[in-house]
Amino acid sequence: MWTKKQLRETVEAKMSDYLLLAVSNRQPYSHTGKGGKIVCQRQAGGLVTALNPVMQAVNGIWVAAGTSTHDLRATDPNGKVRVPPENPSYTLKRIFLTKEETDRYYYGYCNEGLWPLSHLAYTRPLFLASDWEAYEKVNRAFAEAILEEVGDKQAFVWVHDFHLALVGKYLKEAGRPNIISSLFWHIPWPNAEIFRICPQRKEILEGLLSYNLLGFQVRYHCDNFLAAVDRELESRIDREKTTVTYQNQETLIRAFPISIDSQAISEEADSAAAKARSEELRNELSLEGKKLILGIDRIDYTKGIPERFRAVDRFLEKYPEFKEKFVLFQLGQVSRIHVQRYKDLNDELNALVEEINWKHSQGSWSPIVFTRSYMPYQDILALYRLADICIVSSLHDGMNLVAKEFVAARTDLNGVLILSHFTGAARELEDALLINPYDYESFADTIAQAFAMPPEERQRRMVKMRQMVGQNNIYRWAGKVLSQLLKFEFQETP
Ligand code: G6P
Repeated sequence: MWTKKQLRETVEAKMSDYLLLAVSNRQPYSHTGKGGKIVCQRQAGGLVTALNPVMQAVNGIWVAAGTSTHDLRATDPNGKVRVPPENPSYTLKRIFLTKEETDRYYYGYCNEGLWPLSHLAYTRPLFLASDWEAYEKVNRAFAEAILEEVGDKQAFVWVHDFHLALVGKYLKEAGRPNIISSLFWHIPWPNAEIFRICPQRKEILEGLLSYNLLGFQVRYHCDNFLAAVDRELESRIDREKTTVTYQNQETLIRAFPISIDSQAISEEADSAAAKARSEELRNELSLEGKKLILGIDRIDYTKGIPERFRAVDRFLEKYPEFKEKFVLFQLGQVSRIHVQRYKDLNDELNALVEEINWKHSQGSWSPIVFTRSYMPYQDILALYRLADICIVSSLHDGMNLVAKEFVAARTDLNGVLILSHFTGAARELEDALLINPYDYESFADTIAQAFAMPPEERQRRMVKMRQMVGQNNIYRWAGKVLSQLLKFEFQETP
């Protein structure tokens, strides 16, 4: 089994002679003001968890967009700051974008264009020429920052996600044989028919085929990508090796399902503090004598939150004996709120909760508690432990790490996971109760099935899912990608 220590030792042994750059739009640490002081905060999420030990082991550089004036004040004139604050051991290099660039590149091309294009959730993508220009410009700025840091050293550059598809192309154009580059596409890749919608599809594909290695969450997304390439570009596809050769550049296409630090989550969720916090939350949420259904998501139209609420509505219509017997606690993290579709979703959710609660409430009981307030991670772990059912009902999702975190937190082998078929996670977590979130009838019946599931069956399913998440952890994911990168050979300098 891959561990943090093993990953660290492997990269120390094999990568120390090279420079390693991680590149992402979101930064691993942000600076904020607190009581007149600037404090540095680690961002949540699997990427930071996995890459932090790697970057620390090899004293690497992480290039990302800074977002606030505090971020700016905390960096030197080259945009650099050493992190983590408690033990500075690698460099965060921040790129600062203007408000207009952020509007057009991040909110515009990334989140109004590529995000809905890649997720089959029936939100129309919007592709504006001015947004595309900003996307190109920002990708170029990232590439320039990388080239400046690399100089003539031999470097592995690991880029993340749909924000930065073109960086590889700009690196290649600079003609540096001392760089081996890779991009991991964290979200789904749509089928070729949908991808055709994108006016800049050729440029996006050309950008991606400038990397040496291209990673997707699941095999199906690799296949979709190859189908898009087949349709749009004159290239050579080797299906045996899963490579594409385009303009003398060979790109290896691979699936690397991302994961979580399952061991750390299990240990923390099993701690006396987490158990005590669970009991406090049981009181705070008035759950005494009631079951808890849990939902935790970024508020995004791909997550199927309205579908989940409607399924609970249908469940209560079909099984009224469950009235006052449970609460659906939905925690939603506000996201991308400058995009109209996200504003509309927030309004839709408020209206739905109000309508469903009004319809079914009895005395002081209402079925849905929806909160957007921030909860510390310890509380989220405590909620995972407290939940009888956790629902992940995404309409489409590259992976979905809430599903994996819930499983990792259930050291008591209890709890039922209801999981959408349309998540990457469903391919690994086959022992969840799999649902189609659009089908309210069977979704409602699945909630009933989860409540009725005998303890032995809950345990049997959870044991199997825990084995999967324990083996395929985040260190294995990072280790696999980095091992693959190490197999490439640097070209001779001409
Ligand atoms: C998805 C994307 C990530 C992104 C995250 C949060 O998981 O794959 O790249 O960071 O959503 O979105 P945000 O826009 O807040 O960075």
